[in-house]
Amino acid sequence: MSDFFSSTVGLLVAGVTLFSIVMCGVLLWVQASKKLKVSLDVKSNSTGHVWDEDLQELNNPMPRWWMGLFYITIVFAFAYLFFFPGLGTYQGKSEWSSQGQYLAERKMVEERAAPLFAKFEGLKVEEIAHMPEAKAMGERLFLNNCAQCHCSDARGGRGFPNLTDADWLYGGTGEAIQVSIVEGRNGIMPPMIAAVGSDENARAVAQYVLSLSGRANDPLKAQLGRKIFGEACVACHGADGKGNQAIGAPNLSDRTWLHGGTERSIVETIKNGRQGHMPSHKQILNADQIRVVSSYVWQMSNTGNR
Ligand code: HEC
Ligand code: HEC
Repeated sequence: MSDFFSSTVGLLVAGVTLFSIVMCGVLLWVQASKKLKVSLDVKSNSTGHVWDEDLQELNNPMPRWWMGLFYITIVFAFAYLFFFPGLGTYQGKSEWSSQGQYLAERKMVEERAAPLFAKFEGLKVEEIAHMPEAKAMGERLFLNNCAQCHCSDARGGRGFPNLTDADWLYGGTGEAIQVSIVEGRNGIMPPMIAAVGSDENARAVAQYVLSLSGRANDPLKAQLGRKIFGEACVACHGADGKGNQAIGAPNLSDRTWLHGGTERSIVETIKNGRQGHMPSHKQILNADQIRVVSSYVWQMSNTGNR
């Protein structure tokens, strides 16, 4: 809360909250102590409202026990606001916060799991990958944290890279995989239509890109495309189209495609650009967990033992 409110706004919110609770109490008290002033049939104490022939509404105060319950809720509200955060920026006497509770629970779980990770201490990702217990733990970590984007079999999908093949945007060493997970990755290809000039030229470049992986293409268009590629694309994808792992520019000369390798999807890539965002996991997983899940990813493409 303190991130959003200046202290004056905090005081205002606290004031309005306390005022509302006090007013609830006042309302209760007024209602309980005043009798309804309507013309009554004094003898029968009736308000004059009758339903179903003989069901009458009498002019009695609300039952005491029922009023008591209402007063208890008001006392409860004050006690709650004293101990827990709820009054503007006041943190509460117990200093409880949902974030604090989460961190404490996480710390407890990590302490309990620490002995399990101890045997991987000081080992490299590649070495851990050969240990069966690491694979089981890595698989669970992967399913809980990574499968929603990379699929449960780690083969990914459109825009989400396949982690089981030998084709890497940012590198497939244990070290590079760890950096991808710890820091996250942002692959950005800007829209290139201005640089290639026209839709016609974009299609020509796409024909050239098709030729890079040895697929059927129109050689005349590809020749024009090659020239444009040399001007607009080599800075990131390299002269031979083999990509650049420093910026995550994919290799265009293989048959692995992140966004699709048909002429249509290549033209779309050129016209609109593409972006891929892999979130940083350093706040989500600790260093031990990251090493183990990295080893799980590494072994999928390196030991042939999926
Ligand atoms: C919110 C979706 C999302 C989650 C969750 C996610 N990733 Fe990713 N990951 C991506 C995307 C998208 C990319 C590609 C980034 C790019 O296009 O530059 C990527 C890239 C990677 C890479 C680099 C691949 C390469 O070819 O170099 C690795 C390794 C990786 N992720 C592993 C993981 C692991 C392990 C986890 C779980 C701890 C995980 N990711 C969780 C979306 C995700
Ligand atoms: C500023 C660097 C940069 C430039 C310039 C650039 N690209 Fe890219 N390109 C990238 C990056 C980074 C990606 C990966 C985007 C992602 O992570 O989703 C990419 C992705 C692609 C893809 C998708 C590959 C796949 O596997 O699906 C194609 C095709 C492509 N670029 C073609 C081109 C062509 C053709 C040009 C020239 C007109 C070009 N790029 C210019 C950086 C660049």
